Amino acid sequence: MFSRSASRTLSQARQFSSSASRQTKVTVLGAGGGIGQPLSLLLKLDPHVTRLNLYDIRGAPGVAADVSHIDSASEVTGFAADKLDEAIDGADVVIVPAGVPRKPGMTRDDLFSTNASVLRDLASAIVRVAPKANLCIITNPVNSLVPIASRVYEKAGVYDPKRIFGISTLDVVRATRFLASVTGNDPADTPVTVVGGHSGETIVPLFSQSSYGKGVTGEAYKKLVHRVQFGGDEVVQAKAGAGSATLSMAYAGAKFANTLFRGLAGEKGVITPTFIRSPLYVDQGVEYFASNVELGPNGVEKIHPVGPISAEEEELLKAALVGLKSNIEKGYKFIEA
Ligand SMILES: NC(=O)c1ccc[n+]([C@@H]2O[C@H](COP(=O)([O-])OP(=O)(O)OC[C@H]3O[C@@H](n4cnc5c(N)ncnc54)[C@H](O)[C@@H]3O)[C@@H](O)[C@H]2O)c1
Repeated sequence: MFSRSASRTLSQARQFSSSASRQTKVTVLGAGGGIGQPLSLLLKLDPHVTRLNLYDIRGAPGVAADVSHIDSASEVTGFAADKLDEAIDGADVVIVPAGVPRKPGMTRDDLFSTNASVLRDLASAIVRVAPKANLCIITNPVNSLVPIASRVYEKAGVYDPKRIFGISTLDVVRATRFLASVTGNDPADTPVTVVGGHSGETIVPLFSQSSYGKGVTGEAYKKLVHRVQFGGDEVVQAKAGAGSATLSMAYAGAKFANTLFRGLAGEKGVITPTFIRSPLYVDQGVEYFASNVELGPNGVEKIHPVGPISAEEEELLKAALVGLKSNIEKGYKFIEA
């Protein structure tokens, strides 16, 4: 069926994936939810994943039984509500979409009171069972929950800021897609870096750094920025009470996870924006910030600065830093109360 050269390439790929890449044990917490289910499906398709543990307070064994029939190499196990520790045990990467999503009219910050407790409790279990795992936080509000998780690790004396990530990839995916809608180009040719945080005005797309994006100006530029910052609302409104982005978020979560897996497997030059503990704006009281980060075997290997930006982006960044400072303080206040 395959030509000789195609089958050689295929067998080389298999060889590579069975040695270098196929080695990541992954746990999803919140695997029964709107994001958790398609994310689990996409992780099952990722050749880096050898073991996929699915946990939720309801429904994870069913999702696991379903996903486990897919003909890829990883082993999938579902864990019931009282089996959290077993689900996390031995994980290299823990991905968390557990918690409640937005309804129309809500901001991500409105989710704080419920999701802060969920994240604190899950982080406490991870710290106890797999403190060296790389933790990817999808649950909102990301800007406050990454500081909360970090404090949980700090209090337990196992904090490694290089291994805790807030997932802002959906903003990158949206910025890239929405820019392509304006310019008419293939999104693959128009990657956009997004810095700051993951909510409203803290989301700062750097269109000036994109060869296509820098041509968008005036009203079109303003509309584009607004759409990236508030694109999540389009989904929340269209779903009319049934939740927020799940499919595009699952795609974005799997995309980030694949980037992380490649970095952990030793691939060089793996760079993506993510919300982490960052020195970039500490002098302005902002201890966590999303910017391009090089990933590697130790998680974050190098934090890239924002780089040259336009006057408009300077203004966006100023507003983002104000928002971030208060989101981060809110997280700290919760965990220190
Ligand atoms: N980072 C992003 O870009 C982004 C994008 C979209 C949504 N989100 C956030 O992701 C989260 C999940 O969204 P969703 O649409 O999947 O919601 P959902 O309600 O469909 O699913 C959440 C799941 O979490 C489970 N859960 C709740 N508490 C738990 C706990 N203590 N332990 C384990 N599981 C628990 C629920 O049982 C449910 O299955 C929300 O907070 C949402 O705001 C983030």
